[in-house]
Amino acid sequence: MDSTTSSRSAWPGALWASWALGCGLKRAGMRVGARRGDPFARLEFDPGLRADPYPGYEALRASGTIVRGAVVSGTVDHAACSEILRSPAFGVAEGDAAMPAWLRRLRRSFLTVEQYGPLEPPSMLAVDPPLHTRYRRLVTRDFAARSVAGLETRVREVARGLLDEMADAPGEVDLIGAYAGRLPVAVIGDLLGVPEDRRQDLLRWGDGAARLLDPALSWREYQEAIDGVRQLQEWFGGQLDRLRRESEDHLLGRLVDLDGPDALTTHELRATGLLLLGAGFETTVNLIGNAVGLLFDHPEQRAALRDDPSLWANAVDETLRFEPPVQLVPRQAYEDAEVRGGTVRAGTTVLVMLAGANRDPEVFADPGRFDVTRPDAGAHLAFSSGAHFCPGAGLARLEGRVALEELFARFPDLRPAGERVRRPTRVLRGWGRLPVAA
Ligand code: HEM
Repeated sequence: MDSTTSSRSAWPGALWASWALGCGLKRAGMRVGARRGDPFARLEFDPGLRADPYPGYEALRASGTIVRGAVVSGTVDHAACSEILRSPAFGVAEGDAAMPAWLRRLRRSFLTVEQYGPLEPPSMLAVDPPLHTRYRRLVTRDFAARSVAGLETRVREVARGLLDEMADAPGEVDLIGAYAGRLPVAVIGDLLGVPEDRRQDLLRWGDGAARLLDPALSWREYQEAIDGVRQLQEWFGGQLDRLRRESEDHLLGRLVDLDGPDALTTHELRATGLLLLGAGFETTVNLIGNAVGLLFDHPEQRAALRDDPSLWANAVDETLRFEPPVQLVPRQAYEDAEVRGGTVRAGTTVLVMLAGANRDPEVFADPGRFDVTRPDAGAHLAFSSGAHFCPGAGLARLEGRVALEELFARFPDLRPAGERVRRPTRVLRGWGRLPVAA
């Protein structure tokens, strides 16, 4: 039965039940695990490691290639991460690799489709081939048809408009609210045909929805996240109805117009639209914010970029390596699998620690040093690898480079102007507030 019509999802306590079976169980288990020293639970609950997870990743590196925790395993080994992400023996397990299938489905039956976030099928992030191949082909075919390079003029125009507004604002400005958050939402908003007056709403709802990537939210956090998702889904529902009546020439409009064997259902279109929208801005905001924070902390790197602006593209990759916006992706072994000479048993959940792999000394010399001239910075795994490799990587690199070039060209003396505050998310890592003065 489709979950829209599920009687469980109509029950007043349904949302709480979905939280309890998903986040609640994990939260309780991880709290106990953190007290007992489980390395993965500590990354979730130890306040020091939440602020700076890198010592936690190094402890994992010292413990072995694939480290087994009480409930999940994980790896920060670059070669093992690549192998797992490319191997057909591992998959995304319907977006919740840390749960048995029956529990995952029971939990989902308490949700209506309007409460489905980016990790519920049919979101591309939550399905394996062959279904995944079908959705992915429809999106990447469209991306490939319209060159990313062709978007540069538009990205630069948006960046300059936002910087004009910043220049007019007196005193201190929060760079995330004024610039780093608004640029990506404007770009993905153009691609999906989102009217300008709705973009701030989408940003707010998307911030809520992004929290669903974290596994062990509190009940209050979960309600806020689901509320953001529901508002996004409702907005997409209305938008799709409109696009069915009158065609529009943008990515979402073209997906709605597909017919024959390529045609997508309303549910599939909503999931794809929601994912593209969220993935399009919830990550790139962190890339821009993380880069600015790192350049404030490393004035000599900023000086190198001032002397040679052709280094900006590499500085973007070095930021993605050093402090990736997506810290980890989970996978489940569907069968016994050989990884780097060891066996991962069927059913094991492996946390593929992209951020840890990006500091693997077997791949990167002196990996703890932020260096915008690093020749192999692009060997990072910040965009994942294999079947789910980020289809927006080219666009994200373009947005990051143009955003930073324009920002530092307009405000060469940009400086920090107060305390930076991290976003509350853990899987997504970035600044929620970054006060600056020009
Ligand atoms: C700095 C910015 C970005 C970062 C760090 C990033 C990172 C990632 C990562 C790590 C994944 C793979 C998740 C996995 O393996 O399970 C992914 C998937 C995805 N990203 Fe990005 N992304 C960024 C920007 C974008 C943009 C701008 C778009 C859209 C225009 C986008 C669209 C997607 C989509 C649709 C997927 C799902 C692909 C699939 O499951 O096959 N991303 N991204």
